[in-house]
Amino acid sequence: MTLKGKTAVITGAARGIGRACAVRFAREGADLVLLDIAADLPGVGYPLGSRDQLDHTAELCEREGAAVLAAPLDVRDPAGVDAAVAAALDRFHGIDVLVNNAGIAAPSGRAVHEIGEPDWALMLDVDLSGAWRMIKAVAPGMVERRSGSVINLSSTAGLVGYRNFSAYVAAKHGLVGLTRAAALDYAPHRVRVNALCPGSVRDDPLVEGRMLVEIARSLDLPAAGHEEIFLRDQPTNALIEPTAVAGAAAWLAGDDAWQMTGAVLTVDGGFTSR
Ligand SMILES: NC(=O)c1ccc[n+]([C@@H]2O[C@H](COP(=O)([O-])OP(=O)(O)OC[C@H]3O[C@@H](n4cnc5c(N)ncnc54)[C@H](O)[C@@H]3O)[C@@H](O)[C@H]2O)c1
Repeated sequence: MTLKGKTAVITGAARGIGRACAVRFAREGADLVLLDIAADLPGVGYPLGSRDQLDHTAELCEREGAAVLAAPLDVRDPAGVDAAVAAALDRFHGIDVLVNNAGIAAPSGRAVHEIGEPDWALMLDVDLSGAWRMIKAVAPGMVERRSGSVINLSSTAGLVGYRNFSAYVAAKHGLVGLTRAAALDYAPHRVRVNALCPGSVRDDPLVEGRMLVEIARSLDLPAAGHEEIFLRDQPTNALIEPTAVAGAAAWLAGDDAWQMTGAVLTVDGGFTSR
């Protein structure tokens, strides 16, 4: 129970890595604020998390004994972000942990010069600016309480390039930069900011993740055999499990990681060590 007495806010919590983090955090004793757009987004060519999926994540966490506030939030909406954080502070004593997990993998699949202005702006707005907005809203409370842990879900795409994926790669590299700069801003206030860079995460049906298959689709890889294709680049010959990412997030969230800030940690089975 390494997170007993802590309240964690997780964006993109309806499914996938967000759900895996939520359930792990609940097992570790945290109370949870679960946020997700819970609707599809024009311009993203695949379904995003739904309200039913968000409610299911909440139910799984409650079964573990967590108090849960679940609400729809589009991280592109500054007023919505402020309102969600206000509602969280109203319900709980304060926010101890923020996991910036909400993200989209498409629109992708084009070379740099083929990307239109709206597609570029959409990717940056969700995958980079969304995390900035959440930190902006949560940080004042953390600074006041002189305690807090922010975890940004970047990617191996935040460390290396991928063909025909430049907006995502740029957003995830941006998230690494935001992590390092924010770590310096808040270090004197004992608020820690770290990034996790997962490799290819298996779309585990238990958490209803579907990003890997969508990455495959946007890169014109066959959806049916996509896991085998991503496996070829994995030194461990295993895709990354959402629970492994959640385990790393739980550790960064907890007090055992009290001297970790500005760190950019891979959970990639050695992918970026090649
Ligand atoms: N799956 C992978 O292989 C992988 C690898 C590295 C990093 N990541 C990152 O991990 C995070 C989670 O990915 P996942 O695999 O669980 O994907 P997923 O698509 O299964 O889940 C993402 C969740 O974010 C939500 N979301 C999307 N846009 C939103 C918005 N504007 N506001 C609020 N919520 C929004 C979706 O509704 C969805 O529930 C993402 O940031 C992703 O870029 C994933």
